[in-house]
Amino acid sequence: MDAAKQTLVDVFAKRARNYDITSNFMYAAGMRIARYRRMSVDFLDLRPGDTVVDAGCGTGLNFPLILDRIGPTGRIIGVDFSGEMLAQAERRVAREGWTNVELIQADLETFEFPPCDGIIAFLSITLLPRYDETIARGYAALRPGRRWVVHDYKLPGWWPERMLHLLEPLIKPFGGSMDMAARRPWESIRRYGVDAAVIDRYFGFAVFAYGSAR
Ligand SMILES: C[S@@+](CC[C@H](N)C(=O)[O-])C[C@H]1O[C@@H](n2cnc3c(N)ncnc32)[C@H](O)[C@@H]1O
Repeated sequence: MDAAKQTLVDVFAKRARNYDITSNFMYAAGMRIARYRRMSVDFLDLRPGDTVVDAGCGTGLNFPLILDRIGPTGRIIGVDFSGEMLAQAERRVAREGWTNVELIQADLETFEFPPCDGIIAFLSITLLPRYDETIARGYAALRPGRRWVVHDYKLPGWWPERMLHLLEPLIKPFGGSMDMAARRPWESIRRYGVDAAVIDRYFGFAVFAYGSAR
């Protein structure tokens, strides 16, 4: 594992225990995370019985919303490379008594997606340097017409380059790095899919992108 990836793994190992609380801190900055989560799951356009991959599932905060839509006959496959985040997800699954959630510890940069009806990456895909390959591989596993949904933070087009460094202290504790400013997963969502849409929110700092498999 390279040094950058190891740093990320260490950040999430430390954050795992309090992640469900600290992930709400963005509210202090006016970001409506719960609403963004609901919007992202809505963009998946799920049906009862669907199989959904939650890519970078963390502690499983998306799971209840997905399960509401796919019902007891559907299935969630939660994938994350952090054992600590997955341990929290496992606790949630046991607490709620869900029997149709499978958790897999794997690196999304090499993960072989199973055949599925939806893939969601909520605040995770921009953390991957090789996000483009992962998005292409995800599309290949999706059933025709079914959706890949990405929600992430980004640098708005109007943000001056010379002020880039001001953001570093804000994103570093969350596993972010300045390399992320150059990552544009919404372009990959468009490139490999059809009927794609890209929606900006929060003055261009938040982005939703979805597309359907060919
Ligand atoms: C900010 S958290 C988001 C968690 C969750 N999606 C949520 O909505 O709360 C990012 C997650 O992506 C995972 N992650 C980052 N890079 C990854 C990779 N290459 N492979 C698998 N998981 C990764 C981290 O371990 C972490 O759990």
